[in-house]
Amino acid sequence: MREAIAAANSNIALAKYWGKRDEVLNLPYTGSISITLAGLTTTARVAFDSEHRSDRVAMNGELVVGAQAVAVRKFLDCVRQLADERTTAEVEVQTNFPVAAGLASSASTFAALALASATALGLSLPARQISVLARRGSGSASRSIFGGYVEWLAGEESDGSDSYAVPLAPADSWRLGIVIAITDLARKQVGSRQGMAHALKRSPFFPAWLETHEADLEAVRRGILERDLTLLGEAAEHNCLKMHAVSMASSPALLYWNPATVAVMRRVLQLREGGADAYFTIDAGPQVKIICPWTQREGIAAAIREVPGVQQVLLSEPGGPATLVEGL
Ligand code: DP6
Repeated sequence: MREAIAAANSNIALAKYWGKRDEVLNLPYTGSISITLAGLTTTARVAFDSEHRSDRVAMNGELVVGAQAVAVRKFLDCVRQLADERTTAEVEVQTNFPVAAGLASSASTFAALALASATALGLSLPARQISVLARRGSGSASRSIFGGYVEWLAGEESDGSDSYAVPLAPADSWRLGIVIAITDLARKQVGSRQGMAHALKRSPFFPAWLETHEADLEAVRRGILERDLTLLGEAAEHNCLKMHAVSMASSPALLYWNPATVAVMRRVLQLREGGADAYFTIDAGPQVKIICPWTQREGIAAAIREVPGVQQVLLSEPGGPATLVEGL
């Protein structure tokens, strides 16, 4: 049996991917930049030559059916096509953090699946090609192939061959603290995929999002390379609020926040007035991620735990790339 096991971390985007120029290939209109998150990990085991007529997918011990299973099968079809392979696979995925609640479990899942399935089929691809492959499963997964600070280049080709992630700076080049406030543990109602497609079609602000994104990318990139947290944090907050403003202005509206999301944002602003270097960002869900200097993370986490409605606080930092591992 040809099998491999890989692990990949989730990531948070500081300049976000929101809108596709190609929905099948997951090609974005813009570039995006993220931090790969240590400790928020998905492990995937892929074994080809299964005895079953179709792929079998289990997530956290349960057999998956419906849209999620279809997404994994479609992804495996991409890998099979690359390897000129026809056999079905058994897939087991384990994630150690709350899934589908705006913590980018699709990023770590498809990054781990890309590395495991390509390895199982004997495709020895460079990391950049694994990133292209991961992108087919979920756009943000292209970034989780690399560790530390990562940029996904939008690319221009219609086949997506130049749309992959590249490392910007290694994880240990700048040890930021990352505090994650979970304000709702339920599965989110409108996923990123539907959300960005809706905003693209139905928000009058979408053109402004595209026009102004390059300046945010440039500021975030420079913030990372110069280790300037004020520059990085202000640009990331601005980009986050813009993505949500674009979505809220869609018709019908797309509102990802709950009262606790807003309360955490306000608390971050207050902490900053009190001298802390904390900045927030929010993806397509109600959770708030806060970046700060490593030395401030415990104090900030303690303050955020006190905010009414916060269910759980996770601590992270820039983490490593997707890797092959021995066991689940
Ligand atoms: C708001 O990568 O989950 O987190 O490509 O359709 O799978 P698909 O979308 P996905 O979108 C992530 C959107 C975001 C911003 C980001 O991660 O850049």
